[in-house]
Amino acid sequence: MNRPSASWAGRHVLVSAGPTYEDIDPVRFIGNRSSGKMGFAIAAAAARRGATVTLVAGPVHLPTPEGVRRIDVRSAAQMHAAVLAQLPATIYFGAAAVADFTPATVTADKLKKRAGQDTMTLELVRTEDILADVARHHARPTRVVGFAAETGELDGYARDKLQRKHVDLICANRVGVAGSGFEADDNTLVVHGHGIERTLGPASKAAVADALLDLVEQEFADVP
Ligand code: CTP
Repeated sequence: MNRPSASWAGRHVLVSAGPTYEDIDPVRFIGNRSSGKMGFAIAAAAARRGATVTLVAGPVHLPTPEGVRRIDVRSAAQMHAAVLAQLPATIYFGAAAVADFTPATVTADKLKKRAGQDTMTLELVRTEDILADVARHHARPTRVVGFAAETGELDGYARDKLQRKHVDLICANRVGVAGSGFEADDNTLVVHGHGIERTLGPASKAAVADALLDLVEQEFADVP
């Protein structure tokens, strides 16, 4: 935390944050409870260290951190396009809670219920995986950091994502409990990397963000 303010000068830090909204019709969407606070805290911390920071934000109610360039998007498809368009970057933090599925079709008119209709079925299709696409991009950032939100077993799923998505770190959040994860002001991250396992927090998301940047600094001496 006591580092000189310009120690990340010359680095382009790309951060995604917040939820995505997947439209069903002109009035309805599928969303999730991500507040964006963790990703915004990482963007703010990187800017304080002198990095050039681009923040691709889903629909959130948060002010833009000082010194951060922000691009607002709504859907997973828009976030995918916006993030890839911002490469090259030195480090990508994929903190957004991107929808894994989106409606197969978006109707132009509001869906109407029929008399006597008791159920409805919505067909969903997989979204493109932004984190995996950044990690295998020809302009891959030197380090790619993903997040995992789990309500149950944390570590096994996180380690699985580390391998499957070819990323350098996965930060596992516990969601669904007080004082951690979505909407909370505090957080605990269990960070898994190749030969790395560290718990950051519990602490404010700002302090956890700083601790995460410290960890990147300590573990990855090769980051330009
Ligand atoms: N992610 C992404 N694009 C998607 C889906 C997820 O970039 N279409 C990223 C998120 O930003 C996060 C990580 O992948 O960094 C989360 O991985 P994911 O497998 O979606 O985790 P969960 O949502 O926890 O999924 P599951 O419970 O299905 O394992």
